[in-house]
Order: sequence, then C-alpha cells, then structure tokens
Amino acid sequence: MSDISIIGLGAMGSALAQTLLSNGYSVTVWNRSIEKTEPLASAGATVANTVAQAMAASPAVITCITSHHHTMELLTENASYLSGKTVIELSTGGANEAEALASLLSKNNADWLIGIINAYPTAIGKPETVLTIVGAPEVWEKWQSAIKILGGKSTHVGTKAGMLAALFAALFTTRQGFMFGMIFGALVCKKAGIPLDTFAQQIPVSLGVLPSYHQYFSDTVPGKKFDNPPATMTTYAAALDDALSTFKEVGAPSDLPQLFSDLAHKGVDAGLNDKALTALVELLGNE
Ligand SMILES: NC(=O)c1ccc[n+]([C@@H]2O[C@H](COP(=O)([O-])OP(=O)(O)OC[C@H]3O[C@@H](n4cnc5c(N)ncnc54)[C@H](OP(=O)(O)O)[C@@H]3O)[C@@H](O)[C@H]2O)c1
Repeated sequence: MSDISIIGLGAMGSALAQTLLSNGYSVTVWNRSIEKTEPLASAGATVANTVAQAMAASPAVITCITSHHHTMELLTENASYLSGKTVIELSTGGANEAEALASLLSKNNADWLIGIINAYPTAIGKPETVLTIVGAPEVWEKWQSAIKILGGKSTHVGTKAGMLAALFAALFTTRQGFMFGMIFGALVCKKAGIPLDTFAQQIPVSLGVLPSYHQYFSDTVPGKKFDNPPATMTTYAAALDDALSTFKEVGAPSDLPQLFSDLAHKGVDAGLNDKALTALVELLGNE
C-alpha cells in the first residue's frame, strides 16, 4: 500500500507527486502515457499499470488531469474500486461537472474533496501556495496535512462541490476588472497624447489605493452596512461621470466607463444616493 495515489502526471500532477515523494510520502502513480511515469519511478514512486491498480494502492487518490469531465470518465469506468476511498480532485472544471463528480463519488461510497490549485507547478510545495478546497469538514481534517504539503496556505472554504467554479469566476472577474481598467486607461491616454510608459509608471500609485477599496468592500458588503460610507453613491456617480466625459472628449472608446457610470446612476435613481457604492450588490442581486 502507498499513502497516496496520483492519477495524471502532466505538468501539475508530476509536481504534486514529486512534492509528496520528497516530503516522505509513499506514492503510487498512473498516467495514460506511460513515459511520464519514468521520472517519478526514479524518484521512488510505484507505477500502477491501470487506474484500478492506482485506486487499490492507497486510501486517497489525487486526480489531476485535463478537466472534471475526464476525471468523471475515468472514475465511472472504475466505479467498482471507489468504495472506502477518498478522491481529491484537483483538475479544473465547471460547477455542474463538479456536482456530478461529487454525486458519483458519494453514490459509490467514496469520500471526496475538490480543489482549485491557485499556482503554477513550480510553486507546488511552497509555504505561500494556496489550494482552495471544498468537501466535508471531516474529510478535509483527515487529508489537510497532505494538502498543505502541496500548498502551505491551502484552505477549506465550504462543502458544496459546485461552489469553487463560482468562487473562481468571482475572483477572476475581480482581477480582470483591474486588467480591463488598465486597457481602457491606455485608450484614453493614447487619445490624449499621454505616453503609455508614463501611464504604466503611474499605475503603482493606483495599486496603493486598492487595500482601501478592499476595506470599503469588506466593511459594507458582508454585513450589508451601507450607511455613512466614506464616499457615497452620489460622489462615485459624479466622479465616474467626469471620467466618462473625458473619455468622450478625447474620442476614446468609452464602453467600460459608460458601464460604471450607468451602474452608479442606477443606484442613485433607486434612492441609494447616500449609501455606499457597494450597495449595488444588493440592488443588482435582487433584480
Ligand atoms: N499547469 C498549471 O499551471 C495549472 C495550474 C492550476 C491548475 N491546473 C490544472 O491541473 C490540471 C492538469 O493540468 P496540467 O498542467 O498538468 O496539464 P497537462 O500538462 O496538459 O497534462 C494533462 C494531463 O491529463 C491527462 N489526460 C488528459 N486527458 C485524459 C484522459 N481522457 N484520460 C486520462 N488522462 C488524460 C494527460 O495524460 P497524457 O500524458 O497521457 O496526455 C496528462 O497527464 C488541469 O485541470 C489544469 O487546469 C494546472
């Protein structure tokens, strides 16, 4: 028997296996293309010839292949080996696929955890690396020490299989808000004749403001406390209007600032003029 089996030895699965091996875990590996098992075998892993062998070899099986969809196929073909095992699915996938996978595992008496790896393979095994995990708290308790070998800041965030896809979408959209903000910022600079390296150099000044935005959000949204904000919906609407006018005056594409302005005005029109801008979460969420 091994401590853990790993199914899938692409860039990520290989890094997971190497890290567990170098931290003293006994590991059994399986990969569809057998040649990818060779470096792991040299590092001390046992190579399984079939998925069934890999599943039989350990109490926990990490799956890390292209997507939940592929994991589902492999595990459906080998469902008779699932009973009593813990499957830790670290492939990426959508919410419905994650729910379907969790249901397949529960139906076959297997425990499960599903995770997102928020890192490149080179960061696996580092203390600051985060794997975001969902599943039953007792299953997390049982396997968290192994998962924290893979990413030292790994965290359990809930019990619902499908929630990770939505959480990923939320965080990705948050980051992309900044990315698209820079893209539109560049458009207004270009039209106004501001050199883009001047704009790029000034961006870190804006980054310095982001912690206070995060604070504004945390102080208001989770507890629905939108009264007496440091800047009201009306203040934001006026500032966003000024920015929008500038985009239009210089002839820059203005879709993004137009969206921001429209949303703030929607809040003002709904009577949220003296509330925090973030009250839009309630207004739009109830539509
Ligand atoms: N690389 C990253 O930076 C990163 C970061 C976070 C999360 N992830 C996630 O980790 C997972 C694996 O990524 P990766 O970078 O390791 O990908 P990869 O290097 O492209 O490897 C893909 C792996 O999936 C296997 N595979 C694909 N289809 C399969 C099937 N139908 N049956 C059995 N095995 C199959 C491949 O087997 P063969 O070797 O036989 O082709 C290979 O082991 C993905 O879900 C990815 O989103 C990756």
